[in-house]
Amino acid sequence: MAERLRLVWASHPTQAAAFGEDVRAGLGAPRKTLPSKYFYDAIGSALFETITLLPEYYPTRTEAEILREYGGEIVRSLGNPIEFLELGGGSAAKTRLLIDEALRAQGDLHYAAIDVSAEALRLSARALVQTYPRLRVTAYAADYFAVLGTPDIRLEGRALALFMGSNIGNYEPPEAVRLLRSLHASLRGGDGLLVGADLKKDRETLERAYDDPTGVTAAFDKNLLARINRELGGTFDLRDFKHVAVYDEARGCVDSFLEALRAHDVLIADLALCARFLRGERIHTESSYKFTIGDIERIGAEAGFRLARTWTDAGKRFGVSLLLWE
Ligand code: TRP
Repeated sequence: MAERLRLVWASHPTQAAAFGEDVRAGLGAPRKTLPSKYFYDAIGSALFETITLLPEYYPTRTEAEILREYGGEIVRSLGNPIEFLELGGGSAAKTRLLIDEALRAQGDLHYAAIDVSAEALRLSARALVQTYPRLRVTAYAADYFAVLGTPDIRLEGRALALFMGSNIGNYEPPEAVRLLRSLHASLRGGDGLLVGADLKKDRETLERAYDDPTGVTAAFDKNLLARINRELGGTFDLRDFKHVAVYDEARGCVDSFLEALRAHDVLIADLALCARFLRGERIHTESSYKFTIGDIERIGAEAGFRLARTWTDAGKRFGVSLLLWE
């Protein structure tokens, strides 16, 4: 089994320092912000898995519906054999739908994944080789930008890159283009990129998906503050904040915030930092951009890809687009 699994630890030993420095910069900014990549420690990853089960959070379910319905067609659309290069992938639950179809189409498969959550990646990579005797896995524990376009990524055959879960929506638009460009640099003619993107829709549906009545999303958002307490000696009282989600229709983006319920100071011992909050002041914690199929076509084109086709669910809530390397 071991010979079918390769783990590449590209993450820096300075990761803990990076968290501290990002927190210092974010809480010191005139408009406070914290990078959403820090949501996913063990507790945050478990809370996110729970979010995906909520009736209000439709993206995961609708994307899975599309992959179940059209997965066979999708994995055959470049011709076979192909290999996968996935950005993110986390628990790889939806990826399994595509792996199943690729194995059906071509017998065996090389699956490469890049994910910042090293531990989650290691566990899912191990589980994948255990489940599938005809699968080889290469797992890169790294920031996407750290490995894409570098010689570290070695693809052998024709590749289908996977960027699912509307992960693209968590980047500011210019950054999303930069990311697709560096992905483009790792691919070649004949390769493809499959992008899962949450589609623009009514405000009520969107805001409920990002602020569910059960409060799981609020807990997920607040875990960022709890993580600062655990890892950096912070004194956040989670009861002093509420989670707020607002759809900004002009930008096509759901913004998540943690809003201070009273004026107070928070100390972060390891950073020797005192963060002062006014009542009603917000920390921006995530942007989730929403797209039309035209938006995906334009972003892809800016990075050197041509939109070949988009599959949607019956309710047209989510789109899975195939972009071709040009
Ligand atoms: N990246 C996911 C998304 O944009 C994660 C997410 C779901 C999320 N609900 C959230 C992030 C609420 C912040 C707040 O859909």
